[in-house]
Amino acid sequence: MSHKVALTFEDGLTKFIKVNPMETVADAAYKARINIPLDCRDGACGTCKAFCESGTYDGGDYIDEALTDDEADEGFCLPCQMSPESDLVLRMAGTAEMAKTGIAEFKATIERLHWYADNTAGITLEVENRDELHFLPGQYMNIKVPGTDEERSYSFSSGPDDQKLKFLVRTAPDGVMTTYLRERAAEGDELVLEGPVGSFFLRDIKRRTLMLAGGTGIAPQLAMLEKIAASGIQPAHPIHMAYGVTFDHDLVEVAELERYAAAIENFTFDTIVADKDSEHPRKGYVTQHLTDEHLGEGDIDVYLCGPPAMVDAVRGYWKNQGIEPANFYYERFATGVSHEQGVHAEAGAA
Ligand code: FES
Repeated sequence: MSHKVALTFEDGLTKFIKVNPMETVADAAYKARINIPLDCRDGACGTCKAFCESGTYDGGDYIDEALTDDEADEGFCLPCQMSPESDLVLRMAGTAEMAKTGIAEFKATIERLHWYADNTAGITLEVENRDELHFLPGQYMNIKVPGTDEERSYSFSSGPDDQKLKFLVRTAPDGVMTTYLRERAAEGDELVLEGPVGSFFLRDIKRRTLMLAGGTGIAPQLAMLEKIAASGIQPAHPIHMAYGVTFDHDLVEVAELERYAAAIENFTFDTIVADKDSEHPRKGYVTQHLTDEHLGEGDIDVYLCGPPAMVDAVRGYWKNQGIEPANFYYERFATGVSHEQGVHAEAGAA
């Protein structure tokens, strides 16, 4: 059986290749015309060294100078020697440009434009060549705004195996995407998308997992939950989500979260509203509603997507609590002129 291997590059681009049984990742990349870093192709030099973010593989034959046992235990691997035993996500050294591969473009049509509230829209797209668009849950696409030279980036809120693509858009006064959606967009419009991009994606669930979402930062986390639910495999560790918004009407897709809570045995979630006049049962900020159990004494993987202030506040919170999560993956909205949210400024792992 062949396996799907995602090669994620330092510039945020991701390419997917198919690796056949007994084939190495490097050979399959070569066939796909992706020039990953290579020298000896023999497990001797370490030039191809990559990091496996998720999946299992046979590491092949190599010498200690190329890859030490400690490195192999940490998850480093040699694409010129390794054969996948499952689908894999590999973090490659270098950029996609260095690998002489570029961003892919897709054409799509708007199938549905839906307003949750005055400030939040949902778009559903039917994309041409859907079979060629692979992405990791949590990643985003750059969408060209029709009638302008600009583009905005939005995380998929649909899962990688869903036929239709879904995105959430938080509007902003005078934002180019906002103006398009409010004034010109119609079902059937053609859009051009580029991607997928982003290093904020779901890894293997190896420990208790905490998802923190602010506003439309719920979108990539919905894609992650969809992936988990669609896999049919119950996670071995608890997953808790704290989803915070400013006003009651900012809460979206809560019915979807309830569906995931029913489908995924170990998944729980809380919604939290900051507005002091709200009658929501949980008020304030997400960190005020985390318990010792959610924090697992720091043995947790954290995924956060929200505005910059939330990322900073959560970082400060770890410090105050004396906690250093095993992994802290985050993506924060851009703070550009438009403030249209779903837009990415920076992603990282700490
Ligand atoms: S290219 Fe030398 S170890 Fe892979």
